[in-house]
Amino acid sequence: MHKKLVLVTGGLGYIGSHTVVELIQDGFEVVIADNLSNSELFILDRIEQITGVLPKLHKVDLCDADAMEQLFNEHKFDVVIHFAALKSVGESIAKPLRYFQNNLNSLTNLLELMIANGVPNLIFSSSATVYGQPEELPVTEQSPFAKALSAYASTKQMGEEILEKVCDAGKINNISLRYFNPVGAHASGLIGELPKGIPNNLFPYLMQTASGKLTQLTVYGNDYPTPDGSCLRDYIHVVDLAKAHVQACKRLVNNAGGSGFEVFNLGTGNGTSVLEIIKAFENTTGQKLNYKIGPRRPGDAMAVYADTQKANSQLQWKAVHNLEDMIRSSWNWECKSSVKSDG
Ligand code: NAD
Ligand code: WQD
Repeated sequence: MHKKLVLVTGGLGYIGSHTVVELIQDGFEVVIADNLSNSELFILDRIEQITGVLPKLHKVDLCDADAMEQLFNEHKFDVVIHFAALKSVGESIAKPLRYFQNNLNSLTNLLELMIANGVPNLIFSSSATVYGQPEELPVTEQSPFAKALSAYASTKQMGEEILEKVCDAGKINNISLRYFNPVGAHASGLIGELPKGIPNNLFPYLMQTASGKLTQLTVYGNDYPTPDGSCLRDYIHVVDLAKAHVQACKRLVNNAGGSGFEVFNLGTGNGTSVLEIIKAFENTTGQKLNYKIGPRRPGDAMAVYADTQKANSQLQWKAVHNLEDMIRSSWNWECKSSVKSDG
């Protein structure tokens, strides 16, 4: 039987590259489309080092409809996994149109081409950001969308709304995966997150503080009504997340969910505080972290963690990596950073 062919947009990015590895190791054939706007070419070689397979890369902007048409003329895809998007919350507040243009035009172009070429199966990278501060915890897929506080969050809400309507019209089946807080890196230390400039997210900021690239981590608030006063999040290992995409691919290929639009939360179900992360980092690595308590960050939710039952039962998927695995693999990746771009 021929291998199922998966188009992975944004496949050189953080979550995309880990997913490409898991897909190849599970027997899928992969083609990557990425414009390298937030990734590096050497990641392709790293994927080959890990898997022994060099996936075909098309260096293309998904907003370029003509270039995308050529890609669809060249390959007959079974599934598309759509990671490609801009993802900086702060930048999206300053430059909202850049986010609407990139994240929404890429999605609608892709859908047009999938319909025109008879490619029915799409997996979409959504985010727990669609929930804002949920009223009930753990948050289920039934929780309503909160008013989006950034253009980035709007693009995820609008992306899901576009997909639901397009699925209703027939021809496309979509699984939208709402990631909670992806962290960690591949056990090989060959691929991981590559933030450009000073990171905004906790894990890369913490790792770069510990390695001396940054001087001090600020904990954004210790006066929340949580057990230790700092915010709670559902941190999930990127390799667990990647494996969920393999499960989602199988579900679409086997038409196991029936046709249409489905949503799954992807998290561990655990809420972990910022101060707990710092303690766990110090215990796991034996390194002291230079941090201070600062004011709350505007727009931060107090606590967000997932109800994962739907993904557990219907995707037959469960996160297996614990916090120590997340910290150890992130630290390993950070320590190897001096050789990251060796090609
Ligand atoms: P990333 O920036 O590492 O990867 C995105 C990739 O898409 C990059 O390689 C970039 O070059 C590419 N890309 C962006 N726009 C493109 C375009 N127009 N054409 C072609 N390629 C393009 O991001 P990531 O962390 O791997 O996130 C992947 C997806 O998951 C995104 O959709 C993101 O919004 C979503 N997501 C991420 C997180 C997170 O915390 N990392 C959380 C929830 C959801
Ligand atoms: C985690 C916790 C901060 C940095 C963001 C996006 C979301 C999603 C994932 C894409 C919070 C605290 C952080 C620091 C800190 N991305 N923190 N000091 O905000 O939960 O989610 O990334 O979809 O859309 O908003 O993640 O890593 O920024 O913060 O104290 O220097 O760490 O207050 O409680 P967040 P984060």
